[in-house]
Amino acid sequence: MKAGVGLFSALVLLLLMGGVFTQRSRQKKPIRRPAAVGKPSVPQPAVSAQPEPQEPTDFPPPILGPPSVFPDCPRECTCNPSHPNALNCENHNIRAIPVIPSRTHYLYLQNNYISEVTAESFVNATEIRWINLANNRIHQIDKKVFEKIPSLLYLYVQRNHLKEVPSGLPASLEQLRLGRNSISKVPAGAFNKMGNLTLLDLYHNQLSDSDLEKNTFKDLKSLMQLNLAHNVLKKMPAGLPNNLIQLYLDKNRIDDVPKDYFRGLHHLAFVRLNYNQLSDKGLPKYVFNITTLLDLQLSHNQITSIPLFNGRLEHLHLNHNSIEILFRGNACKFLLSQKFATKMRLRVPYRESS
Ligand SMILES: *[C@@H]1O[C@H](CO)[C@@H](O)[C@H](O)[C@H]1NC(C)=O
Ligand SMILES: *[C@@H]1O[C@H](CO)[C@@H](O)[C@H](O)[C@H]1NC(C)=O
Ligand SMILES: *[C@@H]1O[C@H](CO)[C@@H](O)[C@H](O)[C@H]1NC(C)=O
Repeated sequence: MKAGVGLFSALVLLLLMGGVFTQRSRQKKPIRRPAAVGKPSVPQPAVSAQPEPQEPTDFPPPILGPPSVFPDCPRECTCNPSHPNALNCENHNIRAIPVIPSRTHYLYLQNNYISEVTAESFVNATEIRWINLANNRIHQIDKKVFEKIPSLLYLYVQRNHLKEVPSGLPASLEQLRLGRNSISKVPAGAFNKMGNLTLLDLYHNQLSDSDLEKNTFKDLKSLMQLNLAHNVLKKMPAGLPNNLIQLYLDKNRIDDVPKDYFRGLHHLAFVRLNYNQLSDKGLPKYVFNITTLLDLQLSHNQITSIPLFNGRLEHLHLNHNSIEILFRGNACKFLLSQKFATKMRLRVPYRESS
């Protein structure tokens, strides 16, 4: 442990109360986002404010938009003349996706009751860059949908009923959000050739070790953020792509990080492993000696000693473990445990004389 302290000249520990911590951990850290290419200029509805559709006994009729200057504008959507490339169909009680006009680049279908995505709706919509299908009841996406939209950049299907990662996703994708489904299957080659994907969100699904193969993520050369939190993994996922910056694995059942697991990840800055089953035995001594690491979160595990890490680390979350830290020099001893009832930010400037 003393050797650990010796690795760096300043130690910043954030000891946060459980509640405070939980709140903070939900906020996404700022990341290098893909360039604003393809970002719609229409104001986006605040997704967080949208209520989840209640399970209806009887589906309400679609909310019909005003008659449009565009003859091809589906009545369940609104078409804003100053944004001819956007089709707004969110929050319209829609059950079936209407035929999408060919001029559409940005398609908003979130917060409806759609259960299936079929190719007919997209037969002419070859220009689509962005599809938001979040918060529907989708259990099936026909793989032929994507054959017609080869330049799709953003696909958001979080909060649906998918049981597997959709097949036939286009290689052009930059962001894929599939969080909060019931996914327990990744078809072979699902992410193949997606060399431009920067964000892959599989948060809150039912993925286990056997669903992820050694080469599942192999082709994702641009991937910066991988979120596999809240699944049922027991092992660290294999074959992570080299450009990864953020790796989120909170709320799994991981008890072991292989010795050279992070070797080759030369950009890795954020690692979250809160709420797993890590103990000292499962953490090789130098496993977190990663030069690029800025933020390491290991709260709610069973660790008893502080792992070694590099001197650039800015945030270390270790609350809800059973750690004793001994700071040489001032001989103060802190016990990090549930007993910490207050929010506490501790900075200990320390220079070892080695
Ligand atoms: C697709 O576009 C073609 C040519 O513009 C048109 O004739 C056809 O009706 C469209 N199909 C649908 C389903 O809207
Ligand atoms: C990936 O991005 C590059 C640069 O924007 C682009 O030229 C290329 O066509 C994209 N690849 C795919 C498969 O869309
Ligand atoms: C930690 O990493 C640095 C940089 O890669 C390396 O020089 C050093 O030897 C490592 N320390 C240990 C104890 O592995």
